[in-house]
Amino acid sequence: MKASQIRQRFLGYFARNGHTVVPSSSLIPHDDPTLFFVNAGMVQFKDVFTGAERRDYARAVTAQKCLRVSGKHNDLENVGRTARHHTFFEMLGNFSFGDYFKADAIRMAWDLFIEDLGIDADRVWVTVYEDDDEAFALWRDRVGVPERRIQRLGAKDNFWSMGDTGPCGPCSELHYDFGSAISDDPRGPAGGDDRYVEFCNLVFMQFEQAADGSRMLLPRPSIDTGTGLERVATILQGVYNNYDNDLFQPLIQEACRISGATYHSDPEVDTALRVLADHARATAFLVADGVMPSNEQRGYVLRRVMRRAIRFGVKLGIDRPFLHELTRKVGEEFAGTYPDVNDRAAFVSEVVRAEEERFRRTLSRGMRLLDDALEAAGPSKTVAGDVAFTLSDTYGFPLDLTQLIAAEKGVEVDKAGFDEALEAQKKRGRQAWKGSGEQAIAEFWRALAETHGATAFTGYDHEQDTGAILAIVKRGVAADGAAEWSHVDRLTAGETGVVLLDRTPFYG
Ligand code: SER
Repeated sequence: MKASQIRQRFLGYFARNGHTVVPSSSLIPHDDPTLFFVNAGMVQFKDVFTGAERRDYARAVTAQKCLRVSGKHNDLENVGRTARHHTFFEMLGNFSFGDYFKADAIRMAWDLFIEDLGIDADRVWVTVYEDDDEAFALWRDRVGVPERRIQRLGAKDNFWSMGDTGPCGPCSELHYDFGSAISDDPRGPAGGDDRYVEFCNLVFMQFEQAADGSRMLLPRPSIDTGTGLERVATILQGVYNNYDNDLFQPLIQEACRISGATYHSDPEVDTALRVLADHARATAFLVADGVMPSNEQRGYVLRRVMRRAIRFGVKLGIDRPFLHELTRKVGEEFAGTYPDVNDRAAFVSEVVRAEEERFRRTLSRGMRLLDDALEAAGPSKTVAGDVAFTLSDTYGFPLDLTQLIAAEKGVEVDKAGFDEALEAQKKRGRQAWKGSGEQAIAEFWRALAETHGATAFTGYDHEQDTGAILAIVKRGVAADGAAEWSHVDRLTAGETGVVLLDRTPFYG
């Protein structure tokens, strides 16, 4: 069964069972300073669970774009090396906001996966939170799962929370046994062997966690479920590795075409091809959702993902910018499901290409520096922190990229030394700022932003637009040589300044 069919069948099943189909939210959480990226289907409903927001439905179903590459849920290091970790993935979920609870959530999950989608019931194992006798009994008595295939696990596995704060609760997971072809470990999911793969998580939302660690009861018990589309596709397509299903294969084939590599010819090559497929998806969706590569926050996470991909491309012998070709393919593949990523493909492509060109300009010089450091690492097997810092600061190698390359040679990076060098640079920066007038300038722009609010960006939809002029600012030079900005009514030829508009198609 194709992934696109699974997605439709999931949404259709819950729609038939009284759920409103809600579109995926952006990867950038709306109004939520606690999270960089949406990391689960429940994020867009956070306030509905806590009762802070009301919707006109009590049951919802979604296919949600998710990213797990920072914060509490971060899978980056595992990507390409395991059969089932991704940065970007799609989470299918059904939600009850104080409507049905455990019994119905369990019944519907089984009905959908076994009866509707046809997963072999004899291969399914279930885990429950250690003291959740109710869930245990429901699986055994109502559904009929044999007792030996129901396991109790502790909070690490079976208590779900979004981050340090927010709605949370005990959970119950469904696992698929890929059988003795993978390993002869008979211990079930509790044993941790890769033969048993979790594919669905039912969270029995009961609490809201506060920043001080305390938990309050939610107004009404609720349900949050999450099913990895990539994993279900793997199960239903009779393969073992997620990268072998039809969500990834077109991208892997495209990466093969670009690099001339052959999939399944060598484990290292396969890892690189999988990283390219995964990171191209994350990159395309992030840029389409408005994140730009930069040195800060979300933009820095994107930059790290992109540079990691580029470096794996270089390892495959690709000697020209290529990542934009892969992101275009992502757009085509997802055009029917998430139209934005295809509609914005040209913009995404341009951003990606520019970033790759910029990084490639310093890549080979940085690699030479790193190679020397690796060779010099000697018996201590450590790359000095200041080398890692120069690589990051001058050559654009994010620390985790340096760590990755070093780890391939069995060498570690002196992280404490890196932090020290970074701190020293920040201190120099702070000193250099003293008396430069920067503070006053920053204050000037802050006041302007406060007075006029944000400028609406319309460039996704038009290349021309009409807007109102909110302010005109002229750049002058103060007595000490620093820049000085002042409000004016007009700018004339030869003057430099800024025109602030209420809306614009130009990217800031
Ligand atoms: N929030 C839970 C998870 O991410 C279920 O959707 O696993």
